[in-house]
Amino acid sequence: MCGIVGYIGRRNATEVLVDGLRRLEYRGYDSAGVAVMSDGELIIKRSVGKLENLEKLLNGDMPVGHIGIGHTRWATHGRPSEANAHPHRAGDIVVVHNGIIENHAELRKALIKKGHEFSSETDTEIVAHLIHQFTEQGHSTKDAIVRSLAKIRGSYSLVIMNVKDPDTLYLAKLGSPLVVGLGNKENFVASDIPALLPYTRKMVFMEDGEIAKMTADGLVVRDKDLHLVKKEVKTITWDPLTAEKGGFKHFMLKEIFEQPKILEDTYGGRVAPGTGKVILKELDPLFKDGKFIYDHIYIVACGTSWHAACVGKYWLERICRIPVSVDLASEFRYRDPIINKNTLFIPISQSGETADTLAALKMAKEQGAKTLAICNVIESSIARLSDIVVYTHAGPEIGVASTKAFTAQLTVLLLIALAFGRKLKKIDASDVEKRVAELLELPGQMKKMLDNAGVIKAIAEKYADSREVLYIARGVHFPVALEGALKLKEISYVYSEGFAAGELKHGPIALIDNGTPVIALTPNGYTYDKIMNNVEEVSARGADLILLTDEGNKSDSVKAAATIYIPKTSWYTSPILYALPLQLFAYYVADHKGTDVDQPRNLAKSVTVE
Ligand code: F6R
Repeated sequence: MCGIVGYIGRRNATEVLVDGLRRLEYRGYDSAGVAVMSDGELIIKRSVGKLENLEKLLNGDMPVGHIGIGHTRWATHGRPSEANAHPHRAGDIVVVHNGIIENHAELRKALIKKGHEFSSETDTEIVAHLIHQFTEQGHSTKDAIVRSLAKIRGSYSLVIMNVKDPDTLYLAKLGSPLVVGLGNKENFVASDIPALLPYTRKMVFMEDGEIAKMTADGLVVRDKDLHLVKKEVKTITWDPLTAEKGGFKHFMLKEIFEQPKILEDTYGGRVAPGTGKVILKELDPLFKDGKFIYDHIYIVACGTSWHAACVGKYWLERICRIPVSVDLASEFRYRDPIINKNTLFIPISQSGETADTLAALKMAKEQGAKTLAICNVIESSIARLSDIVVYTHAGPEIGVASTKAFTAQLTVLLLIALAFGRKLKKIDASDVEKRVAELLELPGQMKKMLDNAGVIKAIAEKYADSREVLYIARGVHFPVALEGALKLKEISYVYSEGFAAGELKHGPIALIDNGTPVIALTPNGYTYDKIMNNVEEVSARGADLILLTDEGNKSDSVKAAATIYIPKTSWYTSPILYALPLQLFAYYVADHKGTDVDQPRNLAKSVTVE
């Protein structure tokens, strides 16, 4: 949440900052601002609302300078307003911040007592005042920052500029992400990789507790004890074009359509057709003499990633016969879960920065669990903190509603389940071979469904004005129904809820009235007859049915208002295919209603505060 960016070098800093903010806008979009040193003068421009408002403000009045910082905000302390927009200034000190200063109230009180005057309601302004107070006392900018950070409780990534030191940016990180991009006589810093991709592939990832001094020619990083740290420079292989819309109306639509390729990228190199093997060497340390060292798996995540985790439980338990618990990170961390050295803890996160998932991971590590992350963003905090990482190769996901990351997470979970199952000899090589063959068919099947997206568009437009939409499913498809409902509510603001169909009679069926839209996932398999009974029950009570079912199925007894046919595959791969029409349905409803699909109200990608 909140995107920060900084630049120092030969280009016009304002242009680089605004471009970076555009690529970070998915992190927050209720106000934005830049601060640039121009002809020895500090110019700050801020505006409420989307970045385009800031761009309008800068149009014809753009400060030109070689150093600056910028911010796009998701409000935590203080409503969205120009005064609360970053950068914040106190004397010569200017700051942009992502995170939360938890002891802001007491610090503010103490500073006010000393005569500091505040111009915003934010926690961030306190940081500027603290640093200013120490520079006024004669401390160097670096020392003033160190002294200020010692007083702060909470999480932050900070980029700081001192007007009196106009060739340097100071950086600090604790709990929120910060990436430095190294250029030729220019350097960049941002919350996330996509902001830097057009400029450089050489990146340095700041660790918690580190502070840094960045000039156009260099980067000096120190750890929490102020010892110099030699940082590894990583080369990022993401293609900058994957962070562009590429002719699509929205990032979300583009990302939905990218899925056939993403699946290939995610299983590519990890399956060896004809051998009955899944190649995930990363998993080897989890086995000793062919035996799995752990007696319990915990999968913890938030939102869409949690839905992937729920599907993973069905696969892992059925294929590997290992007990699996799934938990929401925000619940897990405040319970007293039973974790020990015999636990394998799997955090799932697209961004790798979600505050609750990160905190749950830290907690599991402290209690001795072995940790295996499923992450999309390379070198993210969750990836770096985990003992083992299996990356989903979904590329940058910009649309706030997760789509391609979800199906990539499912693909990785299935691969892990197959790899574990084979190692534990719970599944034959020939069965693995069948599952792999089905996986390899998915991209083609998805392409076929995407070619027919118009059918789903027409259905979505018919239901776009619905007050609510209910989703029902059973078994491994139940979490997919939950995910479909989440997609719809978050981008179209239509109330939607997913139910385990077997639970309907325990309460939810009371919601069904004449014309209530119900989307039913009815794939073939051992729950088919059961879900069809539930479909009949809601139909008998007046539901307006949209049936998702396998190609070739005839559900004559049920009067569906619309039927969407899904290419035939097995129980294992079917959830990946069933997710796709639900994503399209949500997208087309939202687009028809004219909501801001890529930046839905109140939301932000990468929830770095709890
Ligand atoms: C919904 C969505 C969110 C995220 C959740 C976790 O479309 O994107 O629910 O799935 O915030 O984010 P990550 O996976 O980055 O930890």
